[in-house]
Formats: sequence, C-alpha cells, structure tokens
Amino acid sequence: MGCYSALMKILAIETSCDETAIAIVEVKRLGKSDTFKILANNVNSQIEIHKEYGGVFPAMAKREHIKNLPLVLEKTLKDAKMKIEKVDVIAVTTGPGLEPALWTGIVFARELSLKYNIPIVPVNHMEGHIFSIFPKKGKTFKVNTSEKIFPMLSLLVSGGHTELILVKDWHKYKKIGKTRDDASGEAFDKVARMMGLPYPGGPAISSLAKKAREEELIIKNEELIITLPRPMIYSKDYDFSFSGLKTAVLYLIRDLREKNPNILENINIKQKIAKEFEDAVVETLVHKTIKAIKQYKIKTLIVGGGVSANTYLQEQMKNSIKVLPKQGFGKIKVHFPSKALTGDNALMIAIAGYYQARNKKFVKNINKIKAEGNLSL
Ligand code: KG4
Ligand code: ZN
Repeated sequence: MGCYSALMKILAIETSCDETAIAIVEVKRLGKSDTFKILANNVNSQIEIHKEYGGVFPAMAKREHIKNLPLVLEKTLKDAKMKIEKVDVIAVTTGPGLEPALWTGIVFARELSLKYNIPIVPVNHMEGHIFSIFPKKGKTFKVNTSEKIFPMLSLLVSGGHTELILVKDWHKYKKIGKTRDDASGEAFDKVARMMGLPYPGGPAISSLAKKAREEELIIKNEELIITLPRPMIYSKDYDFSFSGLKTAVLYLIRDLREKNPNILENINIKQKIAKEFEDAVVETLVHKTIKAIKQYKIKTLIVGGGVSANTYLQEQMKNSIKVLPKQGFGKIKVHFPSKALTGDNALMIAIAGYYQARNKKFVKNINKIKAEGNLSL
C-alpha cells in the first residue's frame, strides 16, 4: 500500500474546530528540497453559524462537518481535476482540537482509506500551523529541509492555543511556554463579546484599536485614561495568562457603565478599550517571545494561528526583532503566514502530512486511529 516515489499526492482533511477544510498537494522531491504544487485548497467556514453563540458550539460544529465534508471533497477533487484513486496519502488532523469535530474528519478519512486503499498519516494541528508559513503567493512553493534555520522558535496563537515551541530540528519540538488559562484568541473573542462586537473578536477589536492609534492625537486630551494589566509579563517562565486581563476588561466596563449606562455607545471609548486591550496582549506576546529568542539563541521565528493575522502584533514583533542585532544578538528571520493561512486550513495539514509520509508514519491499524483533543507537540 502507498507510493513512496519522488512524486507524491496528498489529500489533507482538517476539522479540528469550525472550519471544514480539504486540500490536495503534489510534492516533488529533489535532494533535500521539496517542491509543493497546490492542486486545490478549500476552506468551508462555519463562522456565520457560530456567530450567534459568540463562539464555537461543538455539537453544531460536528453536525456541520458531517454535512460539509462530502461536498468540500467533491469540490476539491474537481478543482484539482483528478480522481481520488490518484491520491497516494491521506493526511488527517487528529488533534489538538474539539474531539467531536476531530472525529468527523477521522471517520471520513478512514472511509476513504478503506474504500480506495489509501494509507493515512495522522497530523498534529499545531505542527500544521508551523508549516503554514511556507506557501507564499502563487500555486507552488519550496521547502528546503537542509537549511540552517535552527534553533527555531514558534509562537502559536489561536482561539484554542497560546504556545511557545522550541524547534531544535525538524519534528523535534519542546513546548517552553503555554497559557495557564485562556488562549489569546479566546481573550479577543470574549472581550469582543463584552463590548457587543461580533465573533470572531480578533478582527473587530483590531480594527477599533487601529482607529484609536490613528486618532490618538485627537482623543488623547480626553480625561478618561484606560489602563489594563499585562498578566505574567515579568514572570520568570514563558507562560501566559489572559483570563485576568479579560476580567479586568469586564470590571472596567462595569465601572464605566455605573457612571453612564450607555457608555459603550461612545465609539471613542470603545476604541480606547480595544486599543489598550490589544496593547496588553501584544506587549505580553512580544515580550515573552523576545526573551525566549535571547535565551535560546534563536535563528528563526515562526508565528502562526488565527491571532498571527493581527497586524499590530506583526508590526511590534518585527520591530522588536529588528533591534536585536544592535543589542549584540544575531540576526533573526521572522515569518508570518500569508493572511489566508493564518486561520485553520488543510494546506498546512497537507505539508505536515507530507513529511509524516516521508518519515513513513502511516497508521498501521486504521481502526485504532483516534481523536486527541489535548494532543501535544
Ligand atoms: O487558528 P484559528 O483560525 O482557529 C483556532 O484554531 O482557534 O484562530 C481563530 C482565532 C479567533 O479567536 C480569532 O478572534 C483570532 O484567531 N483572530 C484574531 C485576528 N484574526 C483572527 N485575533 C487578533 N487579531 C486578528 N486580526
Ligand atoms: Zn488552529
């Protein structure tokens, strides 16, 4: 079973959260360089459905994935202009994520595997986010696994995770920091909800904060000064905590409302809260990341996950990295995914899956493959 030739076609399935995603890539190996050709890449987002709940509702996500998977597969094969029989490997996300959602992808992959006799490789969703930085513009991209990019650090920031991963070599991961409570994206979503902003909260808060920065001179003179804490920013480890920050926003809004029940109708106030909140999250993420870069003599930084779409985070991270050589540290390369790949997608699962297949990490007994909500790197 399976094909280990120089050319490999991978079908990837991702259902760990609220995106039903399927992609097909064709990979050509030449020495240590792999050329990926994207044949199809589809993401069916359930955001509209979960908006009503202000977050992802697992049972609903499961139902939607089951409904969407055959449709997305059909479209993906059509886009790739190929028959499923031509697929060499199926890559499927087995964790971390919402277990009922993960299971739908696994069951679907298993059915395809049995029916068409195609081997399966399991993929860790977080490893997928690390690989999400490789595709640039266009349909093809190269990954050179012999490049001297290590030690590498990966900041993974999403609705479910906030982690700092030390990558010593390909597939050699060590989690050096994580959130002790809420994930950074989750904090954006919860704070947005308190402010009456739509789900997902990240983009909504970010655009208000941007306006506040642009208009800073105009509103600076107002009496109201809003300050929020930066929890754990100076703690000795690399852990994060965002729940206290969220609660601080809750109390802030409560106190402001006591004075004026309609205070949140004032767009200036909303912008100020959004800016201070985004400042607090970004400052904390950047501070801990830079600290780890210094300690571990990092050469490459990869930022991935939904929150990596945040332009202020990108700007602040790049600025802080730019000044490191002046402080006696080496030059560091920083990579963010292209906008379309910051969130969940199957293309990143296909890339990670390809390397799993290269390393012959096929599932031996497909009946034993299972969803692992808390799967770690
Ligand atoms: O990676 P992702 O699509 O799904 C998970 O695996 O969680 O991340 C979604 C998260 C949401 O919490 C969303 O609010 C956040 O990413 N997000 C952002 C931005 N765009 C999306 N957070 C801050 N700024 C953004 N521009
Ligand atoms: Zn994700």
